[in-house]
Amino acid sequence: MGRFCFPKCRLSRVMGSLQVLLGGLVIIVSITSLFRFYSAGFFMHDDDICRHFYGVKDAYSYESFDVKALSDRVEEVVSKMANLQRKLESTVQQMEKNKEELDKTSVSKSEYKKFLEEEVIKPLYSAHISLRQIRLPRVEGVGNITLKEDPLINSFTIEEIRKYITPKKNRIGKISIYGTERTYNTIGHACVLMKKELEEYMDYDIGSYCKDDWNLAQKLMLNGCDPLPRRRCLTRASKLYQKPYAINESLWKIPDYRNVRWNNYVCRNFDCLSSKNPKRGYSKCTGCFEMDKERVKWVSNSSLPVDFLITDVFTIKPGEIRIGLDFGIGTGTFAARMREHNVTIITTALNLGAPFNEMIALRGLIPLYVTLNHRLPLFDNTMDLIHTTGFLDSWIDLQLMDFILFDWDRILRPGGLLWIDKFFCHRKDLDDYMYMFLQFRYKKHKWVISPKSKEEVYLSALLEKPPRSL
Ligand SMILES: *[C@@H]1O[C@H](CO)[C@@H](O)[C@H](O)[C@H]1NC(C)=O
Ligand SMILES: *[C@@H]1O[C@H](CO)[C@@H](O)[C@H](O)[C@H]1NC(C)=O
Ligand SMILES: *[C@@H]1O[C@H](CO)[C@@H](O)[C@H](O)[C@H]1NC(C)=O
Ligand SMILES: *[C@@H]1O[C@H](CO)[C@@H](O)[C@H](O)[C@H]1NC(C)=O
Repeated sequence: MGRFCFPKCRLSRVMGSLQVLLGGLVIIVSITSLFRFYSAGFFMHDDDICRHFYGVKDAYSYESFDVKALSDRVEEVVSKMANLQRKLESTVQQMEKNKEELDKTSVSKSEYKKFLEEEVIKPLYSAHISLRQIRLPRVEGVGNITLKEDPLINSFTIEEIRKYITPKKNRIGKISIYGTERTYNTIGHACVLMKKELEEYMDYDIGSYCKDDWNLAQKLMLNGCDPLPRRRCLTRASKLYQKPYAINESLWKIPDYRNVRWNNYVCRNFDCLSSKNPKRGYSKCTGCFEMDKERVKWVSNSSLPVDFLITDVFTIKPGEIRIGLDFGIGTGTFAARMREHNVTIITTALNLGAPFNEMIALRGLIPLYVTLNHRLPLFDNTMDLIHTTGFLDSWIDLQLMDFILFDWDRILRPGGLLWIDKFFCHRKDLDDYMYMFLQFRYKKHKWVISPKSKEEVYLSALLEKPPRSL
């Protein structure tokens, strides 16, 4: 002992008191849960149980309270606490054994902090969350009710997925604000094909931090598990997160790299994403992270006739373009330019090898994280403009493209504009694609085809949806 061992002595003293505290907690938890069962009349099989737990006067039926889930939770907490206690005890014992050695070495503050975080705070927190879960009533209908209704549930064994997709009945006899009796959480049907990955994704402690696994999520989405189930864990943010730049600067400034979690990228900052870097880790829209390249888009005359200017569009419909969608891969520059004309544009984005979503949002624009898999979450006849670039080019299946174009047609308002911006394809496929775009009999304001390479051609078009008054 003595003042030289101050940090360790303090550590073991802290451990000692924690041990006592935890022991106490375990006992309290056991007793209170028992007490709750008892006072609720559990041992007398009284129907008041449910009323007691729910605190409502409605006559809940006995079955609607999931006693098993409750006891499972309590079990879980008790075992977590016991585990923690065992671990702390053995740590202290270990310290006791190596006392000599311990006196010589010193525990650094950061080791100490890490120990507390990993071994004490985290398990305590997770136990706390498990306790809180006790207050959540059972999901209506887990069991055989839903199996008849939704065979998809049978495809999964992980409890959290089953809970998620089980339809949630409204509270007794109530109709929701949507006029429905139950709420269905949806997942993409192709989730069943990626069961292993989905189960990995849904494997977490409720209420604790999620893994840093957005790329697993995106992989699931791109492979058809879209929409993904929601999760009940806390998403991680950059440790160094700074507030974004102010609105008068953010639009044309590369954001602070500290506002992005870089763990799953090749790059670790925005400079690295430059098109000059062959190891940037992404292949589409390569100049998108360089503002000098972005600044000239759609505002300065280029040598290519397929490059239209934003002002061309405004002259066609002065004052009429107010809201729209930019469907493509980019960092929001189209939306930024339109914002300068007081037009609100939503930009679709996927984080394909670079943080496109974060970049757009940090510029102060709206990223819409959607894949090609599903119908756009926008209502019929609402958008003034759809702009699309660098996305559907040449790889896309014609039938898929047909469904997508009809969806765009759906959301575009009569008199709205479809701006196809440098779509490219193989020369021999051009007729097929032209048919695709022309089948809607939009008014052609502009229609330009120009060679891209020996085999490939560009097509740019500005088309207006006709009125569809029937
Ligand atoms: C569950 O299914 C069995 C057999 O189909 C049926 O007898 C029982 O009533 C069902 N239970 C509930 C709660 O619906
Ligand atoms: C943005 O606004 C702030 C406060 O309104 C001001 O101090 C700053 O100079 C402005 N920046 C630019 C680039 O205009
Ligand atoms: C682009 O060229 C046109 C005609 O050549 C000219 O009227 C227009 O001012 C130019 N715009 C810009 C931004 O240079
Ligand atoms: C955008 O709106 C502001 C404020 O109403 C106005 O001052 C500005 O002139 C508008 N810009 C354009 C390009 O219409």
